Amino acid sequence: MSSTTSNGHGPAGGASRRDFLGLVTGAFAAVGSAAIAWSLIDSMNPAADVIAAGAPMDIDVSKIEPGQQIVVRWRGMPILLVNRTAEMMATLNNKTDVARLADPDSNVNQQPGYARNWHRSVKPELAVLVGICTHLGCLPEYFPKPDPSQPVENWPGGYFCPCHGSKYDLAGRVYKNVPAPDNLPVPPYFYVDPKTVRVGQNPAGISFSLGEVAQL
Ligand code: FES
Repeated sequence: MSSTTSNGHGPAGGASRRDFLGLVTGAFAAVGSAAIAWSLIDSMNPAADVIAAGAPMDIDVSKIEPGQQIVVRWRGMPILLVNRTAEMMATLNNKTDVARLADPDSNVNQQPGYARNWHRSVKPELAVLVGICTHLGCLPEYFPKPDPSQPVENWPGGYFCPCHGSKYDLAGRVYKNVPAPDNLPVPPYFYVDPKTVRVGQNPAGISFSLGEVAQL
């Protein structure tokens, strides 16, 4: 299976949701181009008519390297999947960092019930998030860990929205005192098997739709 993946940050500058649609088009036209900072799993995407219908899509998550993020498109939205390392997961429970979050317990309806936990996911190691800033819809950049280029001091990594400076942790939980009001949404998903995540469909017996979230 050929694929393109990304360990790095999101698009340079403040790409908007609308920009993402153009970015996707460009990505399919020029896979491998260094200009495409948000790499996409091209061969994992279903046919265009399936995408247009918003059908659930299966994603092989077994090849996501530790610390790596991949981005797929579902219903026109960037879906971020990160294989979080133990070190990354530890930041989610760091008391100092948690105290800086606006909604650390995910009380606002931004995720299905099965992601209302400290890691905001089904399995702690795999994050599955909608990569759209809850302020005005820009695309937050991925910072897997602190590094010299981090845009915020004393920040353990996560997502940073360059449009107006909102920041989120590695579970998509928004910080206090930033423009974005809510955590990044979590889409409906479940594990078909240990290697495969189906985005767009809940586990059996559970009803949740992104139409229910407080902010997208
Ligand atoms: S759109 Fe992200 S901070 Fe404004």
